[in-house]
Order: sequence, then structure tokens, then C-alpha cells
Amino acid sequence: MNLGIVILAAGKGTRMRSTKAKVLHPLAGQPLLAHVLKTAHALAADNIVIVHGHQADQIRNAFPDEPVEWALQENQLGTGHAVSQALPQLHSCSHVVVLYADVPLLQLNTLIALTEKMDRGDLAVLTAETDNPVGYGRIVRNQEGEFVRIAEQKDCTSAEAEITEINSGILCVRKDRLEQWLQQLEPQNAQGEYYLTDIVEMAVKDGLRVETHASETLEEVSGVNDRQQLAHLERYYQRKRARELMQSGVTITDPSRVEFRGEITLECDVVIEPNVMLEGPLTIGADVYIGANTVIRNSTVANGVVIKENCVIEGAIIGNDSIIGPFARLRPETTLAANVHIGNFVEIKKSAIADRSKVNHLSYVGDSEVGSKVNIGAGTITCNYDGANKHKTIIGDNAFIGSDTQLVAPVTVGAGATIGAGSTITKHAPDNKLTLSRSKQTSIPGWERPVKKES
Ligand code: UD1
Ligand code: MG
Repeated sequence: MNLGIVILAAGKGTRMRSTKAKVLHPLAGQPLLAHVLKTAHALAADNIVIVHGHQADQIRNAFPDEPVEWALQENQLGTGHAVSQALPQLHSCSHVVVLYADVPLLQLNTLIALTEKMDRGDLAVLTAETDNPVGYGRIVRNQEGEFVRIAEQKDCTSAEAEITEINSGILCVRKDRLEQWLQQLEPQNAQGEYYLTDIVEMAVKDGLRVETHASETLEEVSGVNDRQQLAHLERYYQRKRARELMQSGVTITDPSRVEFRGEITLECDVVIEPNVMLEGPLTIGADVYIGANTVIRNSTVANGVVIKENCVIEGAIIGNDSIIGPFARLRPETTLAANVHIGNFVEIKKSAIADRSKVNHLSYVGDSEVGSKVNIGAGTITCNYDGANKHKTIIGDNAFIGSDTQLVAPVTVGAGATIGAGSTITKHAPDNKLTLSRSKQTSIPGWERPVKKES
């Protein structure tokens, strides 16, 4: 079976009340359409055609390098009309799968099961059971239980309205049949639209068997029409992801208070405290502890690292057994080797810090190379920016930087150098020497502290 996939994304999304196209709203940090594309690519189709219309430029521009084809549906005349816009671009496939861009949580396994059902017939429709079928097309069956047609909400009789088996809209169909049926569609219905769903009745009339596959959960086939539905699917996704991670050996103190976004790998015995947000691409090694209120994105954290409360870590690589925080910020291109300590109110940017070095309090280290076993005292600042350019600070192994030092880059501090507290270092500080810049301490004789006059 050579599969072609059509993704419908031309609708208006009025109920989102947004200037942003509906399919670009994020779920778990990724646009809705990105979720659908991921599943579509995983199905190994010959080609994928996205039907777009409303906010077409915005949608296309959000996926500039996607290996897909784009079909424009200028007027939204219904789902059947939308699919026919994609037909000319479905080149060599024998079968067509129709997906919706606003149904983000469809699972690959479900789609595979649907295409397997397809093997037995000419058309297979993905269905679901729900207590509240309002708004969905209903699956109408005859007394033998055979599928006869789909009745849309606005067209169904009161008896049909009671049916709890609904059409997800997702289906798989032989392409040659689809072409024939689409040509026969008429907009004779309450909405005056070309309904894709009418092809079921045509298939039955042609004496063909229409298969159904029932989705295990309603959420998997649920569309996003408004922001409440978006929030509902977001929570569903997060609960599921937390459950899967706990099953794989991660401790999550409160699964309702964590956020997972994008590609994340967590090794065994990671502990995640409440209000943590993890955003991929992210790799976290074994036995890592992540304290409450911490955000980590786009980073690699090695085994045994302890990240205390309230840290923000982005674009960093952290070596084994390092200790970070509380209240630390690691910015992009930070590389920490093993056993590095980064403490309270410390910001590190675009810097490499070698093993066993410590920056424990109230410091800014940017554009720097720091050797191993270096101690950077409280309140040390690398002055890396002259208003126009960024400059580097290089600190050798075993250096000791006294508290409240400014290192005015470009500058180097030699191995084993000691910098006296409160210094402003503008020139090279040699190896193994004490270097300091500090005005002499004086006490003024006869000085008196002013006192307030009593009124
Ligand atoms: C459709 C189905 C209904 C099903 C429901 C599931 C039809 C006639 N009905 O109804 O049986 O239960 O989905 O959610 O198919 N779209 C276009 N171009 C158009 C019209 C729609 O691209 O001209 C896209 C929309 O952007 C959306 C999808 O197709 O992604 C579904 O359209 P929508 O208008 O939401 O269909 P429903 O009335 O919900
Ligand atoms: Mg809909």
C-alpha cells in the first residue's frame, strides 16, 4: 500500500478568537500542526499534502523546511472540497489517509491499525465512543451493525442524535475510489458544504464494505476548536507523559504540577519536584535531582547532578555530580565539567568551567574560560561588554578570585593566581601571585557623623 496523506488545515478557527492561525497554537510547546506532522512522517507516507486557506502565509512560514506539499483551498466549501484540492498533488499513492491539523494527539499505533483495517476494504473510518456526541458526525449502522452513513450534527434526526459512536473525521481510502466519489459530492445539506463524510454512503451504494476502527480514547481524536479544548488536551497530554515517565523509573512528586515539552530523555531515578518545566531537546542522566520551580530547556545534564530550587537553565551542558542553585541561571553555551558548583544568584553565559570549580554566590561569568579547582568569590563580575563588543576572560587552574572582583575583559588570570577582594583587574594577573588593585584604607580623624536636629 503506497500511502499519501492529506492534512486539512484550511479552516478559520473562529472560536480561538486569535490573530494567530489555530494550527500554530502550541500544545506541549509545539504547534498543533507539528504534532500531526510528526505522526504523519512516522507513518512513512509517499507524500504529505497540507491543505491550507485561512492565514495561509502564516502557516506556511511556520514550516519553511518541512518536506511536504502545500495545496491552497481559497474558499472553505467543506471537508470533501478540501480533500479534492489536494488530489492533484497526491502523485503515486494507492491509498489516501485524511488527517486534521487541529487533532494533535492522534497516535501512530492507531493510524497503523486504521490502515490495517483498510487492507480488508476500500474505506476505513476512525471512530470513537463518547457520552457527549454533540457537534460530531454520528456513525449510522443498520440492524446488522453494518456501517451505512455518517449523519452530521446539523443534519441528523433526533434518533440519530442519540448515537454515541462518532466520526473522528480521520479516514483511509483507496485513491481511485476517492477520486470518483469526490466528483459526485453535492452540497445538499444543512451547511451547504461538500461533506467528505458522504463518501461512506457512496461506498455502501457501490456495494463495498466500510470498515471502522475505534480509537481507545476520545482525546486522541479530539479537535481543538477553542482555548478550553486546547487546555483540556494539554492537561491530558501532560498526565499521560508523566505516567509514562514514572513507569520508566522517574520519580515525579506531583504529576499534576510538571510540564514536559518537546523531545526529552530522562534516565532512571531522576527526581522531579513540583512546578518544574522541562523543554526539549533535553537529556537528563540518572540520579539527577530537580528542585521545585526550576525550568530546564535545550540542555544536557549528566548523572548525579543536583539542581536545587528556582533555577533557570537553557542551552547548557552540565557535567556529572555538579550542584546548581538555588536561584542560579545558566544561559546558552554554558559548559560545566564534572563536580562544578554554581550557587545562589549566579548567572553564567557562554562560558566553559572545568571540573571542581566553584562560583557559589552572586556572580556573573560571561564569555569566559575557567580552569579546574578555581574558586570565584561572592560578587565577582566578568565585565565582558564594552558597549559594542564582547570580550573574553580566561582564568587558569587553581586560581582564587577574591570577593567583589571585577575582571575587565579581555583579561587573563594565571594558574594558581590569587586576586585580592574588591579588585578591578584590567591586566594579566600572573601565575601563583597575589594581585590586587585597591586604594589604601584610611580613617579620618575628627570626623563626626551628622545628627538629626530635634524639632
Ligand atoms: C467534521 C466531520 C464530522 C466529524 C468532525 C470531527 C465532515 C463533513 N464532518 O465536522 O463528521 O465528526 O469533523 O471533528 O467532514 N477544513 C478545511 N476546509 C474546509 C472545511 C474544513 O480544511 O472547507 C478543515 C478544518 O480546518 C478542520 C477540518 O477540516 O481541520 C474539519 O472541519 P470542521 O469544519 O471542523 O468539520 P466539523 O464540522 O467539525
Ligand atoms: Mg470541527
